[in-house]
Amino acid sequence: MTRFDPSGPLRGSLRPPSDKSISHRAALIAAMGEGETEVRGYLDAADTRSTLSAVEAVGARVENADPARITSELSIRGVGLRGAGSAAVDVGNAGTLLRLLPGWLSGQVGQRWTIDGDESIRRRPVDRIAVPLRKMGAHLHARDDRLPPLEIEGAPLHGITYEMPIASAQVKSCLLFAGLVAEGETRLVEPLPSRDHTERMLSAAGATVRRDGLTVVIEPAECLRPGLIAVPADISSAAFFIVAALLVPDSKVLLEGVGVNRTRTGVLKILERMGADLVEGELTGEYGGEPTANIEVGSSALQATDVGGAEIPLAIDELPLVALAACFAEGTTKIRDAEELRRKESDRIETVTAALRALGGKVEPTEDGMVIEGTGGLRGGTIDSHGDHRIAMLGAVAGLASREGVEVRGMDAAAVSYPGFEADLASLLGR
Ligand code: S3P
Repeated sequence: MTRFDPSGPLRGSLRPPSDKSISHRAALIAAMGEGETEVRGYLDAADTRSTLSAVEAVGARVENADPARITSELSIRGVGLRGAGSAAVDVGNAGTLLRLLPGWLSGQVGQRWTIDGDESIRRRPVDRIAVPLRKMGAHLHARDDRLPPLEIEGAPLHGITYEMPIASAQVKSCLLFAGLVAEGETRLVEPLPSRDHTERMLSAAGATVRRDGLTVVIEPAECLRPGLIAVPADISSAAFFIVAALLVPDSKVLLEGVGVNRTRTGVLKILERMGADLVEGELTGEYGGEPTANIEVGSSALQATDVGGAEIPLAIDELPLVALAACFAEGTTKIRDAEELRRKESDRIETVTAALRALGGKVEPTEDGMVIEGTGGLRGGTIDSHGDHRIAMLGAVAGLASREGVEVRGMDAAAVSYPGFEADLASLLGR
């Protein structure tokens, strides 16, 4: 049990850890590449370590400039687009790895894989990728036809046009990887735009990917040459400090080098609409098509808002924090169209509702979201992370802003995306 007491203001600056989504893609695309790819700023966390182990299992070589801190520099020697070898792959807790890797592997003729992970991974659906991959010619077998472990037998693939039933960057990326090794072009129609890191990184590595409205088209490729991939700081991790600074009076925090790709910044828009004092500075860099900026945030009085529609995929991982902020706002906030929250590391409609209620929040779960009545604050209490990193860190932020403090059961879950979270929080609190 870890305790987070009501705190004084958060002050100062830091660079949040590197982006998890982009790091997974960097390792996978480097593994598909020809020769060496240098990856700068790879995220050192449990999920992204699973991806390095996975690419090593299929034959890529990972060299670490500084084994003590893998974030510094990595060099990955790829196996080439069609050179992945048979293996048993353990994805640990990484849902993104579970969904992305099978797209590439499905097209490696004559090889076989078993893909499995921890107890939570075994509850994450894979039919969302298995159904379209089979349409492309893939041979896959899932438990009960929808859950891991997933068995794959590599087969020749052909391009398809696929209307995606859900806006999921994981499904889109999986099918883009399959499209690279398929015959003919693959066209994916998204119901709403989702994060586009894969498209950007593949283009930078020489693949032909184009967007036409809601359709993404990929051509098969002979080879990829990523060369160098640099990973910006993760806006999803930055969001914990953004909300902490908004809620704890007199705070002022500068978050440096944060990825501000517009397919990820939905949370900033939502919080601004709620009245957040947020300033996104000039762009500080642009790596492989991923823009970065410094974000300055100060404590603010917040108003309720409605969140739904096209905004949901652009803020999906930050919706738990929006719900927390809504407890402190004036008025009633509604989150709708977010049924996908039920398919994350935990059922986040249930776990966020349970956590906020345990702290004195007035939250009603709905089929596809939550209704949160702002009461100007939270009392505090005890919450369970349910093994979900984002719920654990949400509890910590709630504790700082609460009246009586919060005990978090299962704080160690934070390590899948942010092992240094508590230390970084302490530094902003001047401890
Ligand atoms: C991710 C996409 C999102 C997100 C997940 C990471 C990615 O999932 O929730 O944390 O890296 O592509 P979906 O694409 O399934 O919505």
